[in-house]
Amino acid sequence: MGAGHTRFGALEAGPRDLIRGAVDAAFASVDKGADRVEVGEAYLATLGFGGWQIGHSAAVLAEEAGMTGVPTTRVENACASGGFAIRAAVDAIVSGRTDLVLVAGLEKMTDVTSARRRYWLGVSGDTEWERAAGVTFAGVYGLIASRYLAEHRVDPAVLAEIAVKNHENGALNPYAHFQKRIRLEEAQGAPRVADPLGLLDCCPVSDGAAALLLCAPDAARRYTDAPVYVDGVGAGSDRLAIQERPDITRFGATRWAVDGALRSAKVERSEISFLEVHDCFTIAELLALEDLGFAEPGEAARLTHEGATRRTGRLPVNPDGGLKAKGHPMGATGVSQAHEAFLQLRSAAGARQIPGASRALTHNVGGAGATATVTIFSAG
Ligand code: COA
Repeated sequence: MGAGHTRFGALEAGPRDLIRGAVDAAFASVDKGADRVEVGEAYLATLGFGGWQIGHSAAVLAEEAGMTGVPTTRVENACASGGFAIRAAVDAIVSGRTDLVLVAGLEKMTDVTSARRRYWLGVSGDTEWERAAGVTFAGVYGLIASRYLAEHRVDPAVLAEIAVKNHENGALNPYAHFQKRIRLEEAQGAPRVADPLGLLDCCPVSDGAAALLLCAPDAARRYTDAPVYVDGVGAGSDRLAIQERPDITRFGATRWAVDGALRSAKVERSEISFLEVHDCFTIAELLALEDLGFAEPGEAARLTHEGATRRTGRLPVNPDGGLKAKGHPMGATGVSQAHEAFLQLRSAAGARQIPGASRALTHNVGGAGATATVTIFSAG
């Protein structure tokens, strides 16, 4: 019934201001209005508030949302925290515990030193082997990309094509960290981060927050004449370290999550109008298309190259710019993807609107595929 978003980027605002901004915007978006006292439960997705390091952050959500007294819970599953918080909110409603739930996602990332940030990001991956060997997140995805490109004999230029597409979409998103287009040659020539990934293959380090208001379906029209429904949610998990998995180019957690979501939504892939996928690195968008079942292994590169995943293509992917251009304040990301679904399905996405969008699939990944959620939304 409502969704709010702050700008993503390197922001002056602290975490409390960001939470307040997103929550206020979510309430303001409810057409017929909603009273905060009606909220029966709230969830906050966050990894740790950057330099603020407020561990017990659920209380901060209650405080800043003006709803002390409401049970609030922090949900932390690395970069998939937002998706898992939405799943918890849906469960709270389906169980009958409450009719109205607030979900917020937040990260403040730019106020810590890069050494501390590397440590902080690193603990969302495997610390016993990968981090001990000095492999960063970009390094893990670089290994996956090398393997994928070699195994499927794919031209690495496709990674740059994904970056160009997502920046093109981000340029139309007023909330995006990077609101500028890039050229293919720029992406290909960018400084290397973890070969074959360069700077423009990586999501940035961002601050930002997003919030949603969810209500029981039979209560929706009390709040709005244009509700967006959660048709189904699925989730999955996998071994933490990629070396423990049989195939590093396939994320089992995504496959379990999408199966669960499609089953609970009772819809077919052909009914999905567009995807919001977790492109923390460009290679992750290819893996997502394949693990979600929209392309056979090795085929996502062809779909991308043909332009099918552009905003105007037959299967638009990341119309909001994705993590690549919109930014990736980790706890906020899954909630932000749902915010994009909310806008698109109400035909309120402005210049980046996908005409006739009626059903959306959002995909949120924790670490290098150790946890994942998939949520399916439809226009009311
Ligand atoms: N895409 C495009 N431009 C980027 C960028 C990105 N991902 N990251 C930084 N930049 C730009 C900055 O805006 C800045 O531009 P300016 O000089 O015009 O102001 C310039 O590059 C340098 O920025 P800086 O912050 O110093 O870069 P950095 O070298 O410290 O960090 C990365 C670059 C790629 C290492 C960093 O963005 C990163 O770690 N990204 C991945 C985050 C991550 O792992 N998240 C979890 C995923 S699972």
